[in-house]
Amino acid sequence: MTIDNLHEFVAELEQRNELIRIDRPVSVVHEITEIADRCMKSAGGGPAVLFEKPLLATGVTSDIPVVINLFGSMNRMSLALGVEQLDDIAERIDELIKLKVPDGWREKLALLPKITEIAKYPPRTVARGAACQQVVLQGADVDLESLPIITCWPGDGGPYITLPQVVTRDPQSGVRNVGMYRVQVLGKNICAMHWQRHKVGAAHWREMASRGEKMPVAIVLGGDAPSIYSASAPLPPNIDEYVFAGFLRSKPVMMTKAVTSDLKVPAEAELVIEGYIDPAEELVVEGPFGDHTGFYSLADYYPAVHVTAITRRKNPLYPTTIVGRPPMEDYYLGHATERIFRPLLRLNLPEVVDYHMPAAGVFHNLVFVSINKQYPGHAWKVMNGLWGLGLMSLAKVIVVVDKHVNVQDLEETWWIALNNIDPERDVRFTMGPVDVLDHASRAFTYGSKMGIDATTKWEEEGFDREWPELIEMDEATKQRVDAMWQELGIELKPRNHR
Ligand SMILES: Cc1cc2nc3c(=O)[nH]c(=O)nc-3n(C[C@H](O)[C@H](O)[C@H](O)COP(=O)(O)O)c2cc1C
Repeated sequence: MTIDNLHEFVAELEQRNELIRIDRPVSVVHEITEIADRCMKSAGGGPAVLFEKPLLATGVTSDIPVVINLFGSMNRMSLALGVEQLDDIAERIDELIKLKVPDGWREKLALLPKITEIAKYPPRTVARGAACQQVVLQGADVDLESLPIITCWPGDGGPYITLPQVVTRDPQSGVRNVGMYRVQVLGKNICAMHWQRHKVGAAHWREMASRGEKMPVAIVLGGDAPSIYSASAPLPPNIDEYVFAGFLRSKPVMMTKAVTSDLKVPAEAELVIEGYIDPAEELVVEGPFGDHTGFYSLADYYPAVHVTAITRRKNPLYPTTIVGRPPMEDYYLGHATERIFRPLLRLNLPEVVDYHMPAAGVFHNLVFVSINKQYPGHAWKVMNGLWGLGLMSLAKVIVVVDKHVNVQDLEETWWIALNNIDPERDVRFTMGPVDVLDHASRAFTYGSKMGIDATTKWEEEGFDREWPELIEMDEATKQRVDAMWQELGIELKPRNHR
């Protein structure tokens, strides 16, 4: 069964005891954050929470429930993408990219199901009756402040939409982009769009500005869970996220034309905020915002979106998230990306066995990589390759270890890495673009990067001593102890090193 919208996903989570309903009033100003933060910091990521009576800043109770922490556990993240475990998607992608020119009719026939599978993905359009347009508000009826948009942290510049799919279109190629960029509410019909300079939405905006054309934007909330996730995925600019979501769902995302622009939006969404950016206008102050680094990002200038319509279901749910000191819900969205993109990363760097971005590294600060080392300098080649790949170019520290190291295990990786390095010989610095949220770099979005080669050193790399063996028990002893284990009566809990 495919889940087509947020109502169905919430029902599924409830049935699996993965979601808690809160029927007492809770304020959208800080209180939802504090409750969600306690859940997200608990073992395994805590439950999803649905607030039935969100209290607006004005003291009015909203009749639109707020749902948070939808993706905040391994279990729910997998469920959202319709798999047992996230690596199952990587296997599907692996199968697709292994496609080679068929040799003979048998291979040609075997290829057919794969080709028809790809043909199923592109979004389709419904002519009328889209659920996301059951209610259409325009003109004086547009009021962002009537929505239960949360103010996350005490130092935030205002209320923020935090789990949107921001839809724009490349004016040159016509290819759609869908990005998850936070949006600050500035008034009833105006908001600020925080797309960072390295992101695709920002590139579309620069192109529209150079043409002097107004840019249509749609801020979508809800829809099917793979579509929500796909907005956060670092797909290349020429890939439409709703095609990718269709691939994840094995079913097309149904779209409908927006009411006030020619953009298309997911028909099954809960709410759609339609608007435009006028590149001729002055930028507006956005922020500060309690960010996913665990620090406030400073206020800066971003484009204003003028809202032309709010369309919604009759009974919408409002999905949101919070970011802040890790771990938070976004760790699981990022982890899904890490797993799903592994085969694509290996397409460029086949020597990569595995990689991991631990929660404390807030994605761009730390990347562990295990490689199948084949020649002297191989670790440096991999680091340089990663620093040249899409958003991986923003990685601040990359640690490369040998193939046998389980990089999903933080303690194991640091244990091996710190044992294996001679810091002066094995650490190198380079320069490059850095994440907009990096507050320590010497300049905004520009600074240094550190590579650590923690692989076993070879003679050709100037290492002329003997490299020691890892300590391991012999198999025969292990088997003898396995055989007596029940009798020993020792009960042990597995350790979680993530
Ligand atoms: C919860 C959450 C909030 C995010 N907020 C922003 C944001 O405000 N601005 C931004 O540029 N990226 C933000 N990101 C990261 C982007 O969604 C991510 O880099 C994505 O790949 C961007 O899409 P694009 O590659 O199509 O530009 C956020 C990610 C998550 C999971």
